Amino acid sequence: GDAELQRHFDERIAHDQRIEPRDWMPEGYRKTLVRQIAQHAHSEIIGMQPEGNWLTRTPSLRRKAILLAKVQDEAGHGLYLYSAAETLGVDRAELTEKLIDRRQKYSSIFNYPTLTFADIGVIGWLVDGAAICNQVPLCRSSFGPYARAMVRICKEESFHQRQGYELLMTMMRGTAEQREMVQEATDRWWWPSLMMFGPPDADSPNTQQSMAWRIKRHTNDELRQKFVDMTVPQAEALGVTLPDPELRWNAERGHYDFGEPDWSELKRVIGGGGPCNEQRLARRRAAHEEGQWVREAAAAHAAKQAAREEV
Ligand code: 3HC
Repeated sequence: GDAELQRHFDERIAHDQRIEPRDWMPEGYRKTLVRQIAQHAHSEIIGMQPEGNWLTRTPSLRRKAILLAKVQDEAGHGLYLYSAAETLGVDRAELTEKLIDRRQKYSSIFNYPTLTFADIGVIGWLVDGAAICNQVPLCRSSFGPYARAMVRICKEESFHQRQGYELLMTMMRGTAEQREMVQEATDRWWWPSLMMFGPPDADSPNTQQSMAWRIKRHTNDELRQKFVDMTVPQAEALGVTLPDPELRWNAERGHYDFGEPDWSELKRVIGGGGPCNEQRLARRRAAHEEGQWVREAAAAHAAKQAAREEV
């Protein structure tokens, strides 16, 4: 009976074994995986917009080629993740409708504008850096398809982070105006990057259960701390100042102490009140509607193929 199935499931989780789509799983496990994987996929797709804004305005062909490759990677990451979500019985068309109708979320970080080209470097350095901190542990997530999607995504993510950092290093060796652009972009993106990791553990309704089911391997605060510890030396090497007067090394803890992010800002941005929420969803809706004919043509072609094979 179910008690036996539940016990078997609990044992597999306890022994760090993977749960595969056809295995029995508690309904809550399936639901929270659909929630998290769909949001992760939506984040990748919406995340193409801030960077896409600079595709036609990069300072050189080399920078355009790099940015094009990165934006294409993000699209691919979204598709891997929709495929992982679909192993749980949902469909990407349904998930897309939920995104557009605001019934599913995407990462708050993509609701901020990209005002100068230095933003492209800072997104690679901080946003993809934060994504790496968050995604590497997810390679060990208990749900097989999610963990395997993460392995592929993490390989490309390190290229994203390196190209951003290299872009900033180049600008820091440039003119005073370029150095000021890097500092100004860092000032705008630092706190929103810390908010990518979610609310504090005490305010995180999903963390405890996600940790018990080994979907998450670290809590929001643990990963945020890891990101700060990793990033401060990088800021020093770049020669930029992180906009947090409370940031300092704490020898007893062996970590950096840092200030409290503005959690009301995170709540507001998640709730749709960020600088670019309207624009991001309007663009996503428009792209979906304009793509209707492509989906119909692909479906008609597939039907013809199937009919041909039947004879
Ligand atoms: N933006 C939007 N929503 C957020 C959020 C954020 N930064 N942080 C938390 N939330 C939402 C949660 O989704 C949850 O709402 P829900 O129950 O309706 O889904 C609520 O706020 C409470 O947060 P919890 O901490 O309880 O939720 P989780 O346990 O799901 O933790 C998370 C949030 C850390 C984002 C986790 O979902 C996660 O690790 N997701 C996978 C990674 C991901 O989505 N990363 C997005 C970054 S973008 C990216 O990686 C692309 C790269 O190429 C840049």
